[in-house]
Amino acid sequence: MAATDVTGNLDAAVADLAERFRAALEPPLRAAAELDSATLRARFDEPLPEHGLPVEEILAQLDERSAGGLAGSTGGRYFGYVTGASLPAAAIAEAWTAAVDQNTGMWPLGPAAVELEQVTLGWLADLLEFAGASGYFGSGATMANTVCLGVARHAFAKKHGVDVARDGVRALPELAVYGSVELHLSDHKALRTLGLGSGCVRAIPIDRAYAMEVEPLVEAIERDRAAGVEPAIVIAQAGSVNTGACDPLALIADVCDQYGLWLHVDGAFGAFFRLCERTAPLVRGLERADSLAVDAHKWLNVPNGAGFALLRDAALHHETFGGGAGYLTPGSGANLHELGFEASRSWRGASVWAALKQLGREGVVELVTNCCNLARELAETVEAHPHLELAAPAPANIVCFRYVRDGIDVEAVNREIQARVAADGQVFHTGATLDGVFCQRAAICSWRTTSDDVQMLADAVVAAGDAL
Ligand SMILES: Cc1ncc(COP(=O)(O)O)c(C=O)c1O
Repeated sequence: MAATDVTGNLDAAVADLAERFRAALEPPLRAAAELDSATLRARFDEPLPEHGLPVEEILAQLDERSAGGLAGSTGGRYFGYVTGASLPAAAIAEAWTAAVDQNTGMWPLGPAAVELEQVTLGWLADLLEFAGASGYFGSGATMANTVCLGVARHAFAKKHGVDVARDGVRALPELAVYGSVELHLSDHKALRTLGLGSGCVRAIPIDRAYAMEVEPLVEAIERDRAAGVEPAIVIAQAGSVNTGACDPLALIADVCDQYGLWLHVDGAFGAFFRLCERTAPLVRGLERADSLAVDAHKWLNVPNGAGFALLRDAALHHETFGGGAGYLTPGSGANLHELGFEASRSWRGASVWAALKQLGREGVVELVTNCCNLARELAETVEAHPHLELAAPAPANIVCFRYVRDGIDVEAVNREIQARVAADGQVFHTGATLDGVFCQRAAICSWRTTSDDVQMLADAVVAAGDAL
């Protein structure tokens, strides 16, 4: 077989793909993987093949070697981190985009891809009521935060007469960025990547609801001004990863207006709170942000690897990343590499487009509302149980709670509960450390999660706790 002769058995390979793909769209039997790292590594660990295999044999190897090593995140009983499942339409669209293999960085390399992405970003801005936005699809909220903060850095530099693209951060005046003590690691990483360093972040205290306090924010800004440091950016969170808490966006927007600061909102999942009647007030003021970072692979339930940045000012967005090269021959449409870091990239927007086509606005509202209602149900179960207590308010789709009983070491027992429930694998959730003590943490954002699933989690935690 010639190295590139792959056509012979394509029909068999595609028939096999269809069968395995169909099976993979069913909910997984377990919520957690069964196998450990060494076992899984041994399955894949072989020397680089010298000779190619027939195309119809390759997927079977991938599927069979992965068995027992797949997280059950496409099921309804997966409550770890903040993880959406994959809607069938999104998974199918993404599979198809792999076959047509478009490069969304430049219009001539993916004309339909570019047009679809721009329209889809418009839909998202509409859905989230973020008007006048320029957008960009990246790999997730980390990339979206980095793109947004890159534009914020450019805007700050411009205000101070600096061309940061040419002269770098060393030409900037000393600056300060403000975020709560709960600020997500990805925002710190973005600042590190942009050369601003996480050391410029003033960690603003939070209130009992885990939301940024505004008075200390103002005090920190005043302190910096008095010391000759330029206040530059406030990073507010719509949905903090631990508890789902929202910083008071409208009040923070007032402060940003007053001091002329850039307001960036990390709304990885919390931007969608706007769509549920009960949680919408939590994100009032989101529409006033200069930039917004959101994940698609969380609440939009598309396969991993998709998030988006929305920027209010399209010109600043383009100035930050714009530029060409001799070999980059343009076509009649936009060149999306000029709106973010990546040059070549996959057609990420297609899965989002497909999810929005499958659900419609109505379906997204229902999905978000359902998840928030299930979280409330879990919180009520916790509050009603004599051996469970909430570890933090649960305003939206995340519930943090602890198993408690007289005479136990709450930290050690709760760590052991999480580990045992994960090892059992019927449901899967992760933990968080709040007020210095470990707690059980469930994030609900799957289209598949039901009341029974949530109840199963509470029961599993109680059973593991009672057994200790
Ligand atoms: C608030 C927040 N920001 C950023 C991220 C990072 O998102 P991603 O993993 O998609 O890069 C997360 C992930 O949970 C998050 O909750």
